[in-house]
Amino acid sequence: MKASVIANANIALVKYWGKRNKELMLPQTGSVSMTTEALQAHTTVEFDPKYTEDILIVGGKEYRKGDEEYDDYVSLFLNVVRKMTGNQTKCKIVSNNNFPTAAGLASSAAGFAALAAAVNAALEMGLDGRQLTMLARRGSGSATRSIQGGFVEWHRGEAEDGSDCFAEQIFPPEHWPEFRMVIAVTSKKDKKVKSRAGMAKSVENSPFYESWRELVPKHIDMVKKALADRDFKTLGETAELNALAMHAVAIATNPPIVYWNAGTMDIVHAVMDWRDEGLECYSTIDGGPQVKILCLEKDANDIANRLKQFGNIEDVIITKPGQAARVVDEHLF
Ligand code: PMV
Repeated sequence: MKASVIANANIALVKYWGKRNKELMLPQTGSVSMTTEALQAHTTVEFDPKYTEDILIVGGKEYRKGDEEYDDYVSLFLNVVRKMTGNQTKCKIVSNNNFPTAAGLASSAAGFAALAAAVNAALEMGLDGRQLTMLARRGSGSATRSIQGGFVEWHRGEAEDGSDCFAEQIFPPEHWPEFRMVIAVTSKKDKKVKSRAGMAKSVENSPFYESWRELVPKHIDMVKKALADRDFKTLGETAELNALAMHAVAIATNPPIVYWNAGTMDIVHAVMDWRDEGLECYSTIDGGPQVKILCLEKDANDIANRLKQFGNIEDVIITKPGQAARVVDEHLF
């Protein structure tokens, strides 16, 4: 009853910001993402009667009862699994990311996709790809998309029980092998407001929430068409507008959710200036201060070198479209 999985983080091109059902983790809108090649979570889970309680170790740090990560995230997820399988055996989970955790680099997406796929293998649950996206969703909404590789759509669904809310690959990584994201890490500190709490407040009181709900389906159609046509300009423009609209919704929430720091803003402006100079690039930002720059392979190194000139950037990572979550032989314990 032991299995290991590597799952890759995904970055949304059309963002998810808000749930319509908190328990089932059903979103208010659909979303579209790219699974990255470079950002990976490696997770091992073992269910064994020798464990008297669930053990969680992420990046060498042990989390216990009373810690938010343990109580509000992993325990809730394991409850879902125990209800599905009837198996009450306790487990040990060890997970390592090759990138900073909880700072807007989709660590929960990679982590819960890896955990869901590892639990499925360890307990021989026999879930197929679609069912696995639905299980990963119960850990973290965006994790549903990291089960799949390449370019992925998370369907909002209509059913109240969530039975039509799943993620599906739109195009494999090879569809657009020149597509790149250059990730600028402006701070490695944990974010102050977790996405889950932030988006709940936005749904509750952001004056722009209704406009966001109406805007997202249009952006999804535009991004899917731009992906199909490999139309980089439309894709980049739409993704950048979508991210800024999401942050406008968040900033107007009470209390305000401002994920940006000075480095974030410097890069957003620089990307607009570079574009005016003829360099094809667009920015997107998630629930944290990091900026991901969308570009094509021919410009990726140039953009990375320009970013390295900024004083306030801690790391630059170039990534292309990556693969789906997969079971691996290498156990972490
Ligand atoms: O799945 P969560 O709770 O980590 O929320 C992710 C929210 C964003 O990263 C900001 C947007 C997205 O679609 O990934």
